[in-house]
Amino acid sequence: MVTAAQAKAKYDQLVDRYEDIFFYVADVGRDLVAFADPAPGARLLDVGAGRGAVARAALAKGCAVTAIDASPLMMRRLAEEHPEISASEGDLYRTGFADGSFDLVTAGFVMQVLDDPLAALTEFRRVLAPGGTVALSLERQSVGRLGWFQDLSIEFFAPGGVSEPPPDQPGPLTHDRLDALLGEAGFEGVTRETVELPKPLSGPDALWDWMMPRGLAEMVPALPPERGEEFRRRFLEGARHMHEEGGIVLEFAATLHRAYYR
Ligand SMILES: C[S@@+](CC[C@H](N)C(=O)[O-])C[C@H]1O[C@@H](n2cnc3c(N)ncnc32)[C@H](O)[C@@H]1O
Repeated sequence: MVTAAQAKAKYDQLVDRYEDIFFYVADVGRDLVAFADPAPGARLLDVGAGRGAVARAALAKGCAVTAIDASPLMMRRLAEEHPEISASEGDLYRTGFADGSFDLVTAGFVMQVLDDPLAALTEFRRVLAPGGTVALSLERQSVGRLGWFQDLSIEFFAPGGVSEPPPDQPGPLTHDRLDALLGEAGFEGVTRETVELPKPLSGPDALWDWMMPRGLAEMVPALPPERGEEFRRRFLEGARHMHEEGGIVLEFAATLHRAYYR
């Protein structure tokens, strides 16, 4: 979970690599805009816009696009690449736009990183004109056939186990919870759709190469050298089993959520 200041520090660093690491965001951005189905010329606010996966798709649909993000570097890059988009640094909890300024508010893979998604949805509703739409995407939390990797990671990197959140604190945002929050924030007509984004990889080494820039490059060297070697050996063994039992496919999926403010 991140505040705007933490998001700024984290996402500024990712400005060059973000859409390579998170290969699926551009596809889901297009899916989200198609799901929201804005009329040409619709006034669209994309919050937590990042490198513009959703904003670019909305521009291609003829929307008048405003984008904000906590990361000034992401926004500077988006404005350079697409001067037609009004992109600026901003906090999605306090956007500063007048009531009823937009026909559509979008947030691609943003809700799951927020401490207070209900406060964010309340702000989205405030800036929507009556009859406006909110459209959100959420990563589906599922390890699928990578359960062996999760177990191995816990054994090496969190040997005490992963603790459950305390009962008074919500765990990761689920799609059911997001739909309920949309209702609490005053939205109606909540609709959801799932998109599947399987990514096949050629074999165990390809899985290792895939995982390295996604955390392992920092975590493995932090182990004592012989533990690091053992981790790599056990990782490749687990990947070989997966490869032999149906192939290595990363089972990414997301849900799209749409609702209206009447
Ligand atoms: C997972 S990225 C998604 C980026 C983009 N929407 C996409 O689909 O690729 C989450 C984004 O939310 C932004 N963010 C997080 N908290 C924010 C806040 N309070 N105000 C504005 N942006 C925020 C981050 O800077 C980051 O760019």
